[in-house]
Amino acid sequence: MSDRLDSIVDELARALSSARSGAEVEELRRAYLGRKGAIAAAIGEIGIATLSGDARAETGRRVQAARERAGTLVDERAVAVSQAVSGPSYDTTLPGSDRRLGTVHPVALAKKSIEDALRGMGFLVTDGPEVVSEYLNFDSLNIPSDHPARDMHDTFWLTNGLLLRTHTSSNQVPALKRHGAPLRAAFVGRCFRYEDIDATHENTFDQVEGIMVGRGITIANLIAVMKFMLEEAFEREITVRLRPGYFPFVEPGFELDIRCTICDGQGCKTCKTIGWIELLPCGMVHPSVLCEGGVDPEVFTGFAFGLGLTRLAMMKYGIDHVRVLNGGDMKVIAQFPVVP
Ligand code: PHE
Repeated sequence: MSDRLDSIVDELARALSSARSGAEVEELRRAYLGRKGAIAAAIGEIGIATLSGDARAETGRRVQAARERAGTLVDERAVAVSQAVSGPSYDTTLPGSDRRLGTVHPVALAKKSIEDALRGMGFLVTDGPEVVSEYLNFDSLNIPSDHPARDMHDTFWLTNGLLLRTHTSSNQVPALKRHGAPLRAAFVGRCFRYEDIDATHENTFDQVEGIMVGRGITIANLIAVMKFMLEEAFEREITVRLRPGYFPFVEPGFELDIRCTICDGQGCKTCKTIGWIELLPCGMVHPSVLCEGGVDPEVFTGFAFGLGLTRLAMMKYGIDHVRVLNGGDMKVIAQFPVVP
């Protein structure tokens, strides 16, 4: 009779090996180990109560052993099936894989330092559209179509008559119209010029335009604000000087130079041995631009500046070619901090 029980358990073992889910395993548990299952039925056939003495005890032991073996087989299969469903097992004691965080691009770092400095001085920091009219990019800024200054701006013209802004100065008149005076505002964003790429020029570049208009604003205010902004950005003391510069929308106009931060004015490759670096065109807002923006030039004066962020980042981090900045080489970028 125990042969019969053994073959039932063997049959169960075979059935379990093809069970693929917990439900299938439980079904087999019921079919074999349940009250009306195959093992109970076989035991019923033995009629243990009719046996006597040693034979009865011996049969009882075998029945118990068969039950236990069947139960163990079912339990083991239940565990195996549940692990297979939840994916491959893995070793929780192994070290985790190295998930590197991205770093912040040097131009983005330079941008943030300038934005923080300007916000600290009460400037509204924002941006305007990259696609603008000829009026906003040129005419509103005192650059009519026959003006020679247009030659400085090799322009990407669009087929619909609009253009890609060549400078963030295109925001000056809209800002004056919208907010009026007094005003402190900065516009940070991409500009585009149809230029060949060389060590310091790109056809797409980031600029920060700033404009401050109020009663009695002078060149002294311009110098103080520029110096503070640059010292915040470079995280060191900066010496500045003004040279005359021509831009139709400012009068007087300047080129603001900083003493070379690489050689401290001694003369090096970066400053072309001059000791000074041309960094920041600026000037006093032209009365005709104030008028265009609906601000009375008899009452208000102001200054404006346009800072190239690429140049700033190159100076700050001692990078001598734009390709290093914009080439997408992760070995370069990974040297910068994760958080600005
Ligand atoms: N918009 C000028 C340029 O990109 C820079 C500038 C801005 C000059 C503001 C003066 C005042 O060339």
